[in-house]
Amino acid sequence: MPIASSAFVPSHVARLDLYQPGKPIDELERELGITGAIKVASNENPLGPSPRALAALPAALGQLHRYPDAAGVPLRRALAARIGCEAGHIALGNGSNDLLYQLVLATCDVTDEVLTHECSFLSYRLAAQVAGRRFVAAPTTPELACDIDALIAAFTPHTRLVVVGTPNNPTGTVIARAGLDRLIAALPERALLVIDEAYTEYAAQWPEVDHADGLAAWRREPRVIVLRTFSKIYGLAGLRIGFAVADPAVIDVLGRVCRTFHVSSLAMAGALAALDDTEHVAQGARHARRAIERYLAEIRGPGVRVYPSLGNFVLIDCGRPSAPLYERLLRRGVIVRPMAAWGLPAHLRVSVARDADLPRVIAALNDELAA
Ligand SMILES: Cc1ncc(COP(=O)(O)O)c(C=O)c1O
Repeated sequence: MPIASSAFVPSHVARLDLYQPGKPIDELERELGITGAIKVASNENPLGPSPRALAALPAALGQLHRYPDAAGVPLRRALAARIGCEAGHIALGNGSNDLLYQLVLATCDVTDEVLTHECSFLSYRLAAQVAGRRFVAAPTTPELACDIDALIAAFTPHTRLVVVGTPNNPTGTVIARAGLDRLIAALPERALLVIDEAYTEYAAQWPEVDHADGLAAWRREPRVIVLRTFSKIYGLAGLRIGFAVADPAVIDVLGRVCRTFHVSSLAMAGALAALDDTEHVAQGARHARRAIERYLAEIRGPGVRVYPSLGNFVLIDCGRPSAPLYERLLRRGVIVRPMAAWGLPAHLRVSVARDADLPRVIAALNDELAA
């Protein structure tokens, strides 16, 4: 007799949404009996992993019988040297998602709230809900960007974590310098501001667009926490490693709530080598900007709108329900991301593709959007 989960799970767990990741290439190819599918659904680096990281991994393999260095000292020191801070300002995570979950666990009491805005990264909501904490999403601007005034208006005596992404996933929008300054000036005394900079290296490729620098904000305000990841431009999403830059008091509590040996030795070895791979990072950023400019210039159809983005993806308003379009694109071997779970049922998110794949992605989208 199977048992019902309601018999043993608390109500906040029973209500949890299941995170729907992008469809894996192998799965689609198996289902359709095709080869050569293109995945532009998970904002990965289509140029592949950092070659320096790949070269460093074989040496780490011979030490797999050992537990990882739990303190992650070499990588934290290297990151600190790069950023211009102390190793004590840095915490490593099993991806930056892991650090978000840890932050809720470490800082939110039972009545505390996690505040973000609508159309932000789904993990912000999941991290709050997994811990049984109240999640609040302020409205965005009509352009789907972070509305600083609406965020400030949503502050309550229970606000503990305010989480913003810049560039934001899935909109690609950024927070301007003055906007971030205003947010920090209004931050309630008991609140911490998490600035998720998963795509910051891509934004740096657009110097003419005013966008805030999370690390500069952290240097001015110790209640700021910056999250970064090796999953995007460094091309190491499969290794699962990210980091937080924060006040030592925050780093200390993260170290208490994280699971034992939560970052693998391979992940740390790969990240350490990737950090020096400036050529791979520069190439990835240049490539993403070129691809986004092509998406903006070439994707079209009746009622269709492509949002400008400083990340490695664009959000497309299809002007009609996007689920059937997603299904038809799958049958053409192009995996994009439907956005209904983000509250955007007419939208698709499309990551940058390799140069060789871009024409096929754009042609498939335009065919379907014209229909
Ligand atoms: C805004 C944002 N933050 C964080 C992450 C998660 O990164 P990680 O792989 O480091 O957990 C993503 C990944 O899609 C993201 O879009």
